[in-house]
Amino acid sequence: MTKVEAKKRIEKLRKEINHHRYLYHVLDKPEISDAALDSLKHELFKLEQRFPDLITLDSPTQRVGGKPLAKFEKAKHRIPMLSLEDAFSFEELQSWEERIKKLIPFGSPSPIGRWTPKNIISYFAEQKVDGFAISLVYKNGVFVQGSTRGDGRVGEDVTQNLKTIPSIPLRLEIHKKLPSPEIEKRFKELLQKGEIEARGEVYMTVKDFEKVNQERQKKGESLYANPRNTAAGSIRQLNPEIAASRPMSFLAYDMMTDLGQKTHQEEHQIAEALGFKTDKGERCSNLKEVIVFWKRIGKQREKLPYQIDGIVVSVNDNKVFEKLGVVGKAPRGSIAFKFPGKEATTIVENIIVQIGRTGALTPVAVLRPVNLGGTTITRATLHNEDEIKRLDVRLGDTVIIQRAGDVIPDIVKVLKKMRTGQEKKFQMPDQCPVCGSKVIRPISEAVHRCSNSQCGARQKEQIEHFVSKKGFDIVGLGPKIIEQLMDEGLVSDPADIFILTEGDLAPLERFAEKSAKNLIEAIEQSKKIPLAKFIYALGIRHVGEETALDLANFIAGQIPRHLEPFALLEGRLREGSRPLTARDSSLRFAPFRMTSIMQKFSLEALQNIQDVGPVVGKSIYDYFHNKHNLKLLEKLDKANIQIQLPKFQVSSFKFQNKTFVLTGELKSLTRDEAKEKIRGLGGDITSSVSKETDFVVVGKEPGSKYEKAKRLGVKIINEKEFLSMFR
Ligand code: IVH
Repeated sequence: MTKVEAKKRIEKLRKEINHHRYLYHVLDKPEISDAALDSLKHELFKLEQRFPDLITLDSPTQRVGGKPLAKFEKAKHRIPMLSLEDAFSFEELQSWEERIKKLIPFGSPSPIGRWTPKNIISYFAEQKVDGFAISLVYKNGVFVQGSTRGDGRVGEDVTQNLKTIPSIPLRLEIHKKLPSPEIEKRFKELLQKGEIEARGEVYMTVKDFEKVNQERQKKGESLYANPRNTAAGSIRQLNPEIAASRPMSFLAYDMMTDLGQKTHQEEHQIAEALGFKTDKGERCSNLKEVIVFWKRIGKQREKLPYQIDGIVVSVNDNKVFEKLGVVGKAPRGSIAFKFPGKEATTIVENIIVQIGRTGALTPVAVLRPVNLGGTTITRATLHNEDEIKRLDVRLGDTVIIQRAGDVIPDIVKVLKKMRTGQEKKFQMPDQCPVCGSKVIRPISEAVHRCSNSQCGARQKEQIEHFVSKKGFDIVGLGPKIIEQLMDEGLVSDPADIFILTEGDLAPLERFAEKSAKNLIEAIEQSKKIPLAKFIYALGIRHVGEETALDLANFIAGQIPRHLEPFALLEGRLREGSRPLTARDSSLRFAPFRMTSIMQKFSLEALQNIQDVGPVVGKSIYDYFHNKHNLKLLEKLDKANIQIQLPKFQVSSFKFQNKTFVLTGELKSLTRDEAKEKIRGLGGDITSSVSKETDFVVVGKEPGSKYEKAKRLGVKIINEKEFLSMFR
C-alpha cells in the first residue's frame, strides 16, 4: 500500500470508528459489535504504525497509550469555573426567584433591551449529575486541553485521562442540525481558526462503579465509597492506563464560547449537535413548571444509570443571566435544587457478620433506625475488614450513612468526636457464624470466607426451602430476590428475613415501592404458622411434609405434659385459673418453647414416634441438639414467630385460618363429628356469627345465627355442600 492509499484508508477508518463510537457511547445505540469495532481500530493502529507521520491528535488510536506523568500541569481557566448555590426546599427556590427578580428591571426599557415586559422569568431545568466538573478546550475543532476545576481559576491538566473517555469527542463535528444558521456559521469559522470550550460532568454509571469495586475487592484493594469518588479518583490517576481501565462518561451542560447562543437551552442544543452527550433538560415558563420537572426527575432518579443529586435551574436568557452576575463563587442566575438528603447520622448498635452465596463473610452494621431519603434504614454494609479498619468504626459509634444508588447504605464517616470511650472494637470471627467452620482470609483477598465451600450455597437453599409454599409460604420471595438479599448482606439465614424493612428492599433491583411493601406485608403475615409447617420449614434432614405433620401431631399429643409452659407463655394459665379447653386449639407458642420441648424428648422417644423410625428420629434429635440450629431457633424466637399448635389431629391445612359456625341439626353427623372434621383440616369453629366468619353451616331448624349470617352476607352452606368440601 502506498502512503497515499494508506492516508485515504486511514481517514475512512477514523471516520467509521468515530461514527460507531458516537452511536455507542453518546447515543447508546450501537450498530456493530464491540469485536467489529475493535477490528477496525486494530487495522487503523497497524496502518498508523507503518506510517507514523500520518498519526494525528484526534485519531481514535490516541485515546490510550500516553506515558505516566510525574505530576499534572496547571491549567488556567479562560473563564472562571464557578460552583452553584443549593436550594433544599420550594421556599428556598422561591426566595431565590424573589432575589433575582429584584435585580431585573422588568417592564422598563433596559440597557440590554431584552427583558420580558411582564414580571416573568423563564428557566431552563436539567439534571444535576453527581460527578465532577471538567472543562474541555478544542482548538480548530480538535481536543487539546481538558482540566479539572481546581480553585476555579486554575485547575489541573488531565487531558490524557479525559481522552480515554469514549463519550468525549476528540474532534468537534456537526452531528445534528445546530439551532440557527448564524450559530452554524460561527461554529464553522471557529473550526477553521479559534477555540471552543465546553464544560460538563465526568461521571461513572452505578453499574460500572460496582464493577470497579468488585475488581478491587478481588484484588484485595480498598473500596471506593461511591461513583463520584471513583470517577474523581480515576481522573486524577497519573497513569492514563489506569484511567483507561475505568469506564467513565461525560455529559456536557455548558458551551462557554460565544457561538451566538441566546439561551441556556440553545447551549444544550449546540452541545448535542456537536457530538456531546447532554441531558435534554426542559424549558420552564415559571417556577411551578420547574417544580413539576423536579418531582418527575426525582421519581426517575433511582432508575437512571447514573447518580444525580438534584436539578440545576438556570435563568434561560443568557443576557439576563450575565447581568445577574456572580455572588461569592456562584452565578446568581443558577441554583442547584437538591433532592432530599441521601445522608443521615445514626448509631452503630451492633456489627454482625452475614454469609453470602459464595461463602464470603460480609460485616454489616446494625443501626439505630433512621430515616434516609424517605425510608427507614436499619443496616449499612461494611463490605470487609479493611473497610472497618479504614473507617475505624466501632460498636456504639455515631456515624454518617449514605445511600449510594441501588445498594444498601454505606457508612461514610465516623464522628469520632462523639465517642464516649464506651465504644467497642470489632473483630472478624474465626468461626463461620452459620456453620461453625473455620474462617479464612485468602492471601491477596480483602474478604474472609467460610472454609466450608458449600456453606453459602447451602444457606441459600435453606432459605428457599424455608419460604416455600409448604413452609412459611412467603409469596414474592423467589430465588432471584433471595440471591440479591444475600449478595447485599441483608440476609444470610432464614431468620434474617423477618427483620427486613421496606427501606432495605426498595432500593434493590426489581423492587418498586409497592412490591417492597407487599413483600414486607407477606413476611409479617407468615409469622403465624402452624406447627407442622414450621417443622417442615426448618429443613431437618429426612423430614418432609408428611413427617412434619406426624411430628406436629405427636407434639400436640404431648400437650398435657407440657401444658404449663405453653399456657404460661400465653399468660392464660396462672395458679388456680381454668384448665385448657377445646377453644385453646389456636394456642400459639414461640420457637424457644419448641426448642425446650424437643430437647425433653429422648432419642428413643423420637425414634418411636409412629411413622418416624430410627433414621429420621435420629436426624430430628440431632437437629435440636446442634448449636447452630439452636441459634437459628433463638433468632426466630426474637423475630416473634408464633407457632400455632394443633390441639386436634390435623391432616392438612385446607381450612387454615377459616372459621365455621354450625347452626341447626345435621342429618348424617353429630355436631362433634362435624367439628372434628373442620379441625382435622386446620379450620376453626366459633359459636357466634360475625363478619370474620367464613362459612355458616346450616342444618335443620337453624337458629338466629342463620338470620345473622344472611344479614352480614356471610357464606351459607347446607349439609351437602359442607360434606362435599371434605371429599
Ligand atoms: S451548571 C456555575 N449544570 O454541580 C457552575 N452544574 O454543585 C456551572 N453539575 O460544579 C454548573 N450537573 O460540577 C451545572 N447540569 C449541570 C450540572 C452541574 C452537575 C455539578 C458541577 C458543578 C456542581 C455545583
